[in-house]
Amino acid sequence: MSNKKQRIGVLTSGGDCPGLNAVIRGVTKSAMRLGYECIGFHKGYEGLVDPVSYVTLNNRNTSGILTQGGTILGSTNKGRFAATKGINDRLEIDPELLAGVKRTVDQLNISGLVCVGGDGSLAIAQQFHEYGIPVVGVPKTIDNDLSATAFTFGFDSAVACATDALDRLHTTAASHERIMVLEVMGRHAGWIALNAGIAGGGDVILIPEIGWSFENICQKVLERDAMGKRFTLVVVAEGAELPHGETVSQENEQHERQTRLGGIGMVVAEELERRLRRETRTAVLGHLQRGGPPTTFDRVLATQYGAHAVRLVHQRRFGEMICYDPPAMDSVPIAEAIHRLSRVDPQGAAVQAARALGISFGDRSADQIAADLAHWSSEAILSCDSIDEKVDQAEQALEKVLEEK
Ligand code: F6P
Repeated sequence: MSNKKQRIGVLTSGGDCPGLNAVIRGVTKSAMRLGYECIGFHKGYEGLVDPVSYVTLNNRNTSGILTQGGTILGSTNKGRFAATKGINDRLEIDPELLAGVKRTVDQLNISGLVCVGGDGSLAIAQQFHEYGIPVVGVPKTIDNDLSATAFTFGFDSAVACATDALDRLHTTAASHERIMVLEVMGRHAGWIALNAGIAGGGDVILIPEIGWSFENICQKVLERDAMGKRFTLVVVAEGAELPHGETVSQENEQHERQTRLGGIGMVVAEELERRLRRETRTAVLGHLQRGGPPTTFDRVLATQYGAHAVRLVHQRRFGEMICYDPPAMDSVPIAEAIHRLSRVDPQGAAVQAARALGISFGDRSADQIAADLAHWSSEAILSCDSIDEKVDQAEQALEKVLEEK
């Protein structure tokens, strides 16, 4: 056995988010206390090979980073190591790259590599694991769409940012009696829109999981008008589909990369303005949601992830990813965690609560559908002359209810 000092490596990959530095600090401090030296690779997986680029992490250079957004190590989204295209399609990592990484890990005496990233980045870690490179995963994404963990860090900070934006839009919307549309991130899942919409008093929330129509949004605006509230806040997730089923994206020439979403806020605002002839404005939060200091919740979560990732390395439980199963910190095989999205349940507690308060999802709720049908059928039945016609109408109404169900 070599008597060189054992090391733990850490890297941050994919889109950044608040809390990455807190993980790096958590890994460094807890690794050092167990007698390891800690090194951080630059720019995600890129720093592992050709050229190898890393920094020795210690108490000095990780001091004060707990509260800082971004990542002191840098990150790369879909670089040379990209192991997925879209959500599910596996891309094989070049074997020469894998061999290069293995060489780096052996030469630097790395006992385990902590890979911090979202679904795509963890898919890379999984291929490393299959190749025999000792890895553990730490889940990260502001979208909170990894099903193996209750929360990813970065999400709470993104929701706080979107809520703050809604608070600000609220007052200006009210002053000018305008419809304000706020576009937030959320590629496959509407967690940010849903949570910020509830916390920021949104009136309409549009998310990828619930189909919606412009008629139903207009109906909500008009209902508010009738109540004397001549402004409306609409929160829309960038990945919400338009009523005809398409997402709105920006041009993307790089076919190996995922489409860059964005622009749905403007599309929704323009259409509402056209239909309602009311002043409408759009705000796109974009990467503001990914910057700035992590919230208290994210600092605690990220620190725990860092410390528990080191525990996994120390126990040689490679190929596993830390997950938060409140109040416990657990782990699952990375292979089980990737490609399994956690999406908003349209019947779930948060959506139900929002509906109970009168927030519209641009669709018609079960209660609304039932009320509309009851109204429609009673009018139709009353207008019939004969009893046979009335029975016929009632049967048609029943059929319609079953269809809607
Ligand atoms: O996956 C997190 C996320 O913030 C998505 O919500 C968004 O579509 C994407 O990253 C943006 O990535 P980029 O920084 O490459 O534009």
